[in-house]
Amino acid sequence: MTQPVRPFHWEFTPEPIEREVFRIEGGVPLRGTVAVSGAKNAALKLMAAATLTGERCRFDNVPEIEDVRVMAGTLRDLGVVVDHAGPNRYEVASGDVEWLFVPLEAAARMRASFILLGPLLARFGRVIISNPGGDRIGRRPVNLHVDAMRALGAEIEYRNGYYFARAPGRLRGGDVVFPAVTVMGTENAMLGAVLADGHTTIRPAAREPEVDDLIDFLRKMGAQVERTAPDIIEVEGVRRLRGADHRLIPDRIEAGTFAVAAAVTGGGVRLEGAPCENLGAFLEVLTAIGVDVACGRDTIEVRGAPPASGAYRACDVATAPYPGLATDLQAPTVVLLTQAAGESRVHETIFEDRLEYTSELARMGARIELLDSTHCRIHGPTPLRGAELEVGDLRAGASLILAALAADGRSTIRGAHHVHRGYENIERKFLELGARIERVAEEVAAQAT
Ligand code: UD1
Repeated sequence: MTQPVRPFHWEFTPEPIEREVFRIEGGVPLRGTVAVSGAKNAALKLMAAATLTGERCRFDNVPEIEDVRVMAGTLRDLGVVVDHAGPNRYEVASGDVEWLFVPLEAAARMRASFILLGPLLARFGRVIISNPGGDRIGRRPVNLHVDAMRALGAEIEYRNGYYFARAPGRLRGGDVVFPAVTVMGTENAMLGAVLADGHTTIRPAAREPEVDDLIDFLRKMGAQVERTAPDIIEVEGVRRLRGADHRLIPDRIEAGTFAVAAAVTGGGVRLEGAPCENLGAFLEVLTAIGVDVACGRDTIEVRGAPPASGAYRACDVATAPYPGLATDLQAPTVVLLTQAAGESRVHETIFEDRLEYTSELARMGARIELLDSTHCRIHGPTPLRGAELEVGDLRAGASLILAALAADGRSTIRGAHHVHRGYENIERKFLELGARIERVAEEVAAQAT
């Protein structure tokens, strides 16, 4: 039976975003053990993949973060049953999907909601989904996702900020050829292809570990999908998929963030459940800088030198698709480089607007020259001092926390909610390592100053 599409009666009542600030008293070397949570960038795609079947899917080691709550809310609004079955456990059952409409409000809160395009189109043959890319809410286009779906036979029109997508009959297998590597583009293509009619080849396919985690889950669901070369994924579409259980891989970006926290405060931290094998390029950078890193079977021990001691060496780095240095670890790496002796150059090759936070670091005493929107030069080491800071996005936010932890004096960081999008209990984890950090409502912070 065709699903009704009823976009115009939809009421969105988002929970208000709580405006919060972090208050941090820096200068404490962080010491102890931290357990790495499940990967955010795996969780969102796995939850979307669960809509490929009407049967129940169970996920374990899901991070308790805002983006997961937003994805759960978006799915519930579609009519999907999403149970938060316990700490770090989610169950998704998509027997009835009523809406086939992903509204602007969902896209505005989380760009990754666009990952629903592939699975909803594959299973229900149509979806109306908001464009999360326009100037309105950021500069990240979704053209490659749309092209991939067209390569699988979808008809997609763009009107008034929405993509109206249909797959008459069924999606058809095809050749998806991306002009550049795209993580979610690869995943969307895969999620469409698993229920398409025939064979699909995706190239260059992103090589991120979270893509392979998704492949593992899809195979448990009965999909015929395989990485046949490092950058090629092939899919033979099947008619039906079944429910499956899956434990998420650990979050390599969270692990990298805590590794920098140890290094930049001159502490010593053991990361438990850390995916050493997925952090190769980043750990090489840490080692080149002079940080003491030891990998165990699923642990990483990081020992740092005192801030501004001159023990760290400058290093030139460039981000790249996996297995290169992750763009999501670029900002933490820059914070560390402010403590390295000499001149470091950083080239952000994936995104155009990911160095904006460096002006906040400069206000803390860092000597950073922004050469253009993707290159900066850092002269170190410079002692950092506490400051009143504002964060505009997730990764920059986590990095300013790192800088504040290393700085002398007190920092106030506004925009804490950005950080909670992607880091589980970040202040509790830092507190357990000895940090002096608290999260308070903006009004409380304002009264205290
Ligand atoms: C994913 C990650 C994000 C990470 C990024 C790069 C999730 C939820 N997010 O984002 O944390 O920083 O990979 O590792 O997994 N592009 C286009 N058109 C498109 C799609 C992408 O031009 O349709 C461009 C982007 O602007 C960017 C580049 O391609 O310059 C790579 O982006 P992509 O790999 O797609 O990032 P995401 O999958 O969105």
